[in-house]
Amino acid sequence: MAFAPLAYVPAPEPGNGPWPTNLRRESDGTVTLAGHHLDELAQLGTPLYLVDQDDMIDRARAWTEAMAGGDVYYAGKSFLTPAVARWMVEAGLGIDTASEGELRSALAGGVRGEKIGLHGNSKSDETLRLALTNNIGRIVVDSPGEVDQIARIAADLDVVAPCFVRVTTGVHAGGHEFIATAHEDQKFGLSLATGAARDVVRAIAKNEHLSFLGLHSHIGSQILDPSGFAAAADAVIAFAGELHEDGIAVPEVDLGGGYGIQYTGEDPAPVSEADMIAGIRQALEEACEKAGIPVPRMSIEPGRSISGPAGMTLYRVGATKDVMTDDGVRRYVSVDGGMSDNARPALYGADYTALLNRDSDAELVPTRVVGMHCESGDIVVKDVALPRDVTAGDLLLVAATGAYGRSMASNYNTVRRPGVLAVSDRGTAWLVRPETWEDVLGLFPDL
Ligand code: LLP
Repeated sequence: MAFAPLAYVPAPEPGNGPWPTNLRRESDGTVTLAGHHLDELAQLGTPLYLVDQDDMIDRARAWTEAMAGGDVYYAGKSFLTPAVARWMVEAGLGIDTASEGELRSALAGGVRGEKIGLHGNSKSDETLRLALTNNIGRIVVDSPGEVDQIARIAADLDVVAPCFVRVTTGVHAGGHEFIATAHEDQKFGLSLATGAARDVVRAIAKNEHLSFLGLHSHIGSQILDPSGFAAAADAVIAFAGELHEDGIAVPEVDLGGGYGIQYTGEDPAPVSEADMIAGIRQALEEACEKAGIPVPRMSIEPGRSISGPAGMTLYRVGATKDVMTDDGVRRYVSVDGGMSDNARPALYGADYTALLNRDSDAELVPTRVVGMHCESGDIVVKDVALPRDVTAGDLLLVAATGAYGRSMASNYNTVRRPGVLAVSDRGTAWLVRPETWEDVLGLFPDL
């Protein structure tokens, strides 16, 4: 059987593309993370999520340095544990949470409520009560009914709830471009166009149990340059100008997350944190000048750009087979995880890349790395050139799975969700321990 013409590129080597800073290919062909050999780490069991701890903390610091004079909230939805929350706070960030579980994880990490923000398009009374009892720094109001809901709970607790209002600017960004169309038909935020946002801000401003701290906007994911944020800042500041005329000041503007990363060697690199923030700040300042209002404090909520490239998944190869396609033969390499530990290829058609933990002189052949789940969409790496001799027992490392990998993992096919190991030159530590059969089977009451 002839292999298809080599349409697929090999993974970039460590030191390039999506790999974290402390990953190396050693002279014997094996791969180490902060000095720890992958085959030793694999003794803990595979699949295994690995986090380059220093790389992740450096990425967080790059944002706080770029944002001097403003605030950075780490988007916990991308990957949050109490220890991660602590790393982030030590690096000068706050924590953005989007659920009671994320809020509880940040609090369990010892983060003071003042450093935490709470999002959600449908927050329960219990979650709001927990937030307000812990002196949460900001609650981002997302629908009209929340004004009364938060005010009722704040009154009951005899506190004043700090509120942001999430607005839909009509800007939707992602990938390389942004679409400045009315992106109104979705569940998040309050419309600028219909006046819903204005009504909610006014209601907050005149409620004695609520304080209005600022406006929030989040425009999308995988954004590589400042232009989409600049357009959003324009719209938010134009609205702040209107509020100013109503006698309502906007002390702060939070422009959300969505800063892009490289997943494969072919993905374009995003601009640096410094250039991104400089571009956004300039747009914000120009818009304020036009609106004749003071420049509000700025905050952002990056998640993926901090946790994504620092994290990887280590898999062990199982079955392999050569499959005839219209273009020739494609090699299928199965690994011991899949869509349960990384839902993104199945959910979004996301691309990844993988490298082999050894040297090989074998020819590179078009390969698809697939999982062990009973679905044909269970793809780990859609297209990569790997050596022809990849075989059962080999270790494959998949790049940039640190964001939305473990945080969206499932137990599909009754698998145990893998653990997440923090790795540095000082040692290793579980951020999340691997699930055991007792964890999984223990959920069944008849056992
Ligand atoms: N702030 C808000 C209000 C958000 O909704 C999000 C992401 C972020 C911050 C962080 O965005 P990041 O910097 O991580 O891109 N599960 C999807 C992504 C959904 C993101 C939803 N919101 C994925 O795997 O790509």
